[in-house]
Amino acid sequence: MCVCVLDALKLQRLEKDLFRNNLNKPNSYLCGMEQLPKRKFIVREIRQDFPALRQQVYGKNLIYFDNGATSQKPQLVLDAINQYYSKDNANIHRGVHLLSQKATDGYEASRIFIQKYLNAAKKEEIIFTKGTTDGINLVASSFGELLNPGDELLISAMEHHSNIVPWQMLCERKKTVLKIIPINKRGELDMEAFDNLLSEKTKLVAITHISNTLGTINPVKTIIEKAHLLGAKVLVDGAQSIQHTQIDVRDLNCDFFVFSGHKVFGPTGIGVLYGKEAILDAMPPYQGGGDMISKVTFERTTYNELPFKFEAGTPHIAGGICLGKAFEFLSSLDMVAIQKYEKELAEYAQDMLDTFEGCRIIGEAKNKTSVVSFVMEGIHPFDIGTLLDKQGIAVRTGHHCTQPLMDFFGIPGTVRASFAFYNTREEVDKFIEAVEKSINMLK
Ligand SMILES: Cc1ncc(COP(=O)(O)O)c(C=O)c1O
Repeated sequence: MCVCVLDALKLQRLEKDLFRNNLNKPNSYLCGMEQLPKRKFIVREIRQDFPALRQQVYGKNLIYFDNGATSQKPQLVLDAINQYYSKDNANIHRGVHLLSQKATDGYEASRIFIQKYLNAAKKEEIIFTKGTTDGINLVASSFGELLNPGDELLISAMEHHSNIVPWQMLCERKKTVLKIIPINKRGELDMEAFDNLLSEKTKLVAITHISNTLGTINPVKTIIEKAHLLGAKVLVDGAQSIQHTQIDVRDLNCDFFVFSGHKVFGPTGIGVLYGKEAILDAMPPYQGGGDMISKVTFERTTYNELPFKFEAGTPHIAGGICLGKAFEFLSSLDMVAIQKYEKELAEYAQDMLDTFEGCRIIGEAKNKTSVVSFVMEGIHPFDIGTLLDKQGIAVRTGHHCTQPLMDFFGIPGTVRASFAFYNTREEVDKFIEAVEKSINMLK
């Protein structure tokens, strides 16, 4: 038998010293994540934190209106990525050495920071994933195992493909039934139809909080209340809401909430699945491998506790730590002021676009934010996007991973400008000028 010669007390004293030394070093993850002081929302100042916004493309100052696809990163996050890979790189949860402990501390501190930011009850409810798509697939695979043939799932007509296809795959596998909540021509959910579709057979409602194509803000709280009355669980796709509104999962009372780090000023390849502990506990593991086990023998394996039960293999460690840094940044901002600002910016852009002859706005919900999608009569969206790019303006064109929604509106795609709090009214003015110029060239 192997005997450890270092007695526990000595080891504890040594660890304490090391911990204290590290606390004194700037940027050490052992400091954990910090609640930064709240700052006044001044766009000009906030822009300074985003180096990517200071560049020129084709000799023009970049105007970045593709935030729905991915957001730019603040210096705080970029520094943390650099710090992690240049100094602290190590695997987590199993190393005895200091670097491994530092990485583990950073990763777990990030989990706790995000838990607090979302107002989740416990850190065990925060599962790190690869992103929104991964989070939805996890729920479809694992929660899906608890479903029976004939059970019903409800999604809406405005979902991103990642909130459609995993459920279709589940329906093929488990013979469950997928039902679609229709929308009206303004791009709002038909809530009467929702009431009619919802029944005791409904086991899950999976709904986007804010539409990536239309900007529609869905009444998720009402949906959750109604679904719960009939015993159905609700998954909220927060890919487009986490960066625009203050999310409180306990106030929403959702059962699952998923989002991607890269859309909320963090790195790609990392995201979060929030789930209520009791529901996650009842769900079988999604993937098998290291870290998600308690004990493995060839006869039988027992699984680790939450959240590790759903985190098989070496995770995106730098991503996890730096996502916490993105939330640190976010927590210093005034989300109420930001919400108002972004809504006004999108309304301003929409009103200006609406003055162009032949322009059709796609998505005119009363309650919408941050996104303006449009088509121009006789002009392909791709051509407008290409000409805007040459004028230094980044927008998205195409179906935005919402092909059924495009079919509903009878169009192949749109031009989409999607805003973040670092965008300005002056940028919208330049965008409108550039759209006008593009239309004149293409007519
Ligand atoms: C509403 C919505 N859901 C899901 C996704 C998928 O996100 P990801 O590709 O980061 O997994 C997106 C991405 O655009 C989205 O906008």
